[in-house]
Amino acid sequence: MIPSRVGRREALLGSLGALATAALASCTADPGAPATSRLIGPDSAEVRGAERLRRPVGQRVVTERITAKPTTVDLGSRTVETWVYGESVPGPVLRTTAGDLLRVELTNQLPAATSLHWHGLALSNDMDGVPGMTQDPIRSGEVFSYEFTTPDPGTYFFHPHSGVQLDRGLYGALVVDDPAEPGGYDQEWIVVLDDWIDGTGQTPDEVLAGLVSMSGTGHGGMMGESMHSPVLGGAGDVDYPHYLINGRTPEAPATLSGRPGQRARIRIINAGSDTAFRVALGGHRLTVSHSDGFPVERVTTDALLIGMGERYDVTVDLADGVFPLVAAAEGKTGAALAVVRTGAGATPRGGVAVPELSRRVLLGTDLTADGDVRLEGRSVERRLDVVLGGDMMPYRWTINGARFPDTEPLEVAPGERIRLRLQNRSMMFHPMHLHGHTFGLVEGGARKDTVIVRPRQSVEVDLEADNPGQWALHCHNVYHAEAGMMAVLSYRR
Ligand code: C2O
Ligand code: CU
Repeated sequence: MIPSRVGRREALLGSLGALATAALASCTADPGAPATSRLIGPDSAEVRGAERLRRPVGQRVVTERITAKPTTVDLGSRTVETWVYGESVPGPVLRTTAGDLLRVELTNQLPAATSLHWHGLALSNDMDGVPGMTQDPIRSGEVFSYEFTTPDPGTYFFHPHSGVQLDRGLYGALVVDDPAEPGGYDQEWIVVLDDWIDGTGQTPDEVLAGLVSMSGTGHGGMMGESMHSPVLGGAGDVDYPHYLINGRTPEAPATLSGRPGQRARIRIINAGSDTAFRVALGGHRLTVSHSDGFPVERVTTDALLIGMGERYDVTVDLADGVFPLVAAAEGKTGAALAVVRTGAGATPRGGVAVPELSRRVLLGTDLTADGDVRLEGRSVERRLDVVLGGDMMPYRWTINGARFPDTEPLEVAPGERIRLRLQNRSMMFHPMHLHGHTFGLVEGGARKDTVIVRPRQSVEVDLEADNPGQWALHCHNVYHAEAGMMAVLSYRR
């Protein structure tokens, strides 16, 4: 039987709470406890020790305040009631320099408990923002202070890790600057992609309830039989009414301004919940320099396929005129649009043809690590299988045959070299995301924290178990994660 939405949520939080309690309990050395397999919890000496090592002497502190609250936002062609950070979608851009301490006081004015997750950062486990795994939920009306070192430069973002709140307007960019930034560009643009449904007739919670209940009956206006991509197979479960760049619909797009001949660095973040985007800039090619914050060997492409949770930094040499920056919803109908303007000309309209979209398209798995960030060669000490399964009917998504919180923890010991074998046995793609680490793809070596695993394919990734704690590993399709596709990378002593 499929549990009701509320029942499911309670069950989930309930056993997450049990896990956290177990984690905390195991921190206090109990002479009677077995010597093996004791959890290294978020509140452990190991976690505090790892954070201490990240903090340089004379560490600079960046302090921010964010309020999560319901509000009305203007998406360009319409206004919607939604939940946001601050006043706008996306929320404020946060910025630090690598090595800084980031202190963010989050005030929860939402009518629900929430949390704040710092996607992609190798941060202190107790600040990772996963309720029931690394902290208690932040209840309505409460304030929680996040405080952690931002160790590695790059393009990151933040969002709640509570239910399907990510599919509201709750997300924002976090840029960690490189103190040794070689520069070489004149403009920097942050481009946040999103699929939008909240406030248009259904909330994300209702969408999830619909997916779960429709799967029992076989009827489904928004089910994904027709959402198919030649590259990704099953491309999504939700047919969104809008696709946004920087919170704007194509009817009233954001403008990115520069001058002809300038070089622009574009930091692209897919904050969508159920949509991979194929991104291209009309009249230009994109040179990819970073993926998920880390440098890659530069490669030039016509288009980029970006899964949910992935980030890419690209540079472009700007031509003279007005150009559409298009993010087409892969396997779906619709696209997001922004306008790149360096000269005179009419503003392109939504639906404008961009031939680059159907030329060479690059995926993260095509990338090669920049030599400086490649994981050192070392023999793998522990191999872990991560088998991804599931289906639309019933709507359940699994890791190694089970749904979170019933998934078996993936146990690791501090200091080990781990190989994860992500194997997709389902007919849909899954952008798999690991918290607290940036793994290296076995093929090509690119350092990433989120990687698309296509249907019936496998991706192997290596990582250093150098950040103790309890870390979520899940599909960044927020509906898949909520329907079970999540596990814990669990450090044990
Ligand atoms: Cu973007 Cu579990 O996170
Ligand atoms: Cu998935």
